[in-house]
Amino acid sequence: MPGDVLYTFVFFAWLIGASFFVVGLHQMNSPATARNGNKLSALGMTIAVGATLVWLALRPGGLSVEAWAIIIAGFLIGGGIGLYLARAVKMTAMPQLVSLFNAVGGGAAALVAVEDFFHVANTPEYSISTSVFVVLGVVIGCITFSGSIVAAAKLQGMISGAPIIKPWTRPLTLGVAAVAGIGTLILVLGAAGVLGIDSSIANLILIVIFGAAIIFGVTLVLPIGGADMPVVISLLNSFTGTAAAMSGFVINNPVLIIAGALVGAAGAILTKLMADAMNRSIANIMVGGFGGGDAAAGGAGAAAGGGTVREVNVDDAAIMLAYAQKVIVVPGYGLAVAQAQHAVRELAEVLEARGVEVSYAIHPVAGRMPGHMNVLLAEANVPYPQLKEMEEINPEFERADVALVVGANDVTNPAARTNPASPIYGMPILDVDKAKNIIVIKRSMGRGYAGIDNELYTDLKTGMYFADAKAGLEGLTGAVKGL
Ligand code: TAP
Repeated sequence: MPGDVLYTFVFFAWLIGASFFVVGLHQMNSPATARNGNKLSALGMTIAVGATLVWLALRPGGLSVEAWAIIIAGFLIGGGIGLYLARAVKMTAMPQLVSLFNAVGGGAAALVAVEDFFHVANTPEYSISTSVFVVLGVVIGCITFSGSIVAAAKLQGMISGAPIIKPWTRPLTLGVAAVAGIGTLILVLGAAGVLGIDSSIANLILIVIFGAAIIFGVTLVLPIGGADMPVVISLLNSFTGTAAAMSGFVINNPVLIIAGALVGAAGAILTKLMADAMNRSIANIMVGGFGGGDAAAGGAGAAAGGGTVREVNVDDAAIMLAYAQKVIVVPGYGLAVAQAQHAVRELAEVLEARGVEVSYAIHPVAGRMPGHMNVLLAEANVPYPQLKEMEEINPEFERADVALVVGANDVTNPAARTNPASPIYGMPILDVDKAKNIIVIKRSMGRGYAGIDNELYTDLKTGMYFADAKAGLEGLTGAVKGL
């Protein structure tokens, strides 16, 4: 087949793959269609990669045996590690894994741009636009690579989740940013013919930019606290997409441009939504210094902020739930840690069998990653109509006989509404304190991710049921059954 005709077929296959990405992404809008959207996007990627391999095999000139060996080895090693990690990862460690995937995506995009630059610098193909896309691909890709590795290490506890701010961090960040900026300017002026630069000097400048961007990624993320890591990861995910799109421009590949633009835009929108849900600006998050990772405070009995805590036992809590008309379950990070999603659905079923109306209040940043609660509850086959977003469920708390809080803390803290001195003041919260009765299942008086006390626990309507979320829920189910 002549090269032009073959390329036309391959091009159409890429477009089909890209359109699957768009439809797949759209289906991720709703938990009901999200799984299908994921499968469709994977099919789109298979088509895009398959078409590329066909093009490499059949295009005029073909590919050398060594090149095929490298492709197959890369596919087996990278694909094998990816498959193993995705299967083995615990749900609670998913943000770290996403961060590592961002790192390899950004790193790959940067390497593609570097490789292309080494071939085209000082050739007629080396235009201003090529040099701009190359440098953007390298800078954004390298920042994503090193920044994502630091973010994953913070979340995994390999380095402290607290903001790491040393006297040298800010000057170093500014210094490497200046180096990368000056290097970029020189390369673009060289491409424009304003400066005469030898290709070996141009390659050296690109390597310096590469190194500066790697250091920038590290010093950018180190000062940001663990509490803000999911937002940072989402932002870096957006960077990964943008770097891939830049590489797509460099190597003239439409499917890379489309896929990269989709990831870039989706990541940017998600970052904005998460920042809004925490009532913070993205700039405020990136400046760092907020949140110090999980913190513990005191034991049962007295709250650090004053006030008395009322403890309830499993039988008291079971009676309140069993004789309620309306129960709203408020899941949080503790539900994820305890893997209590099946246990909560079983309790809900037992209550529903007694005629109790049960729904779930989903806060947009409950847990540690976007959609964390939706994913867990969907895995346990909780019916989607019972999952209510914050705006929808908040007016319903006044009518709820019991709000059952399971391992949620910050997203229920009334200080966000009432205490201007609180670090979470202004963050939209679930109006749990408006329910007629509140039962909180958690192990202790330990704090949540923002590291602050929760005055909900000393509310006169609140009964604290100190237990691991899974064991506590199973205990409640047994007790309700026994009534
Ligand atoms: P948190 O405020 O983090 O509180 C979780 C609570 O779960 C802790 O107080 C802990 O108390 C309890 N817990 C831990 N393990 C448990 C277990 N095995 N059984 C029962 N309880 C357990 O959780 P949240 O209310 O979901 O809020 C999420 C926080 O993360 C917010 O501050 C939010 O801003 C932040 N954040 C989230 C995101 C996303 S995208 N989700 C992004 C950025 C930041 P005990 O130790 O006493 O048990």
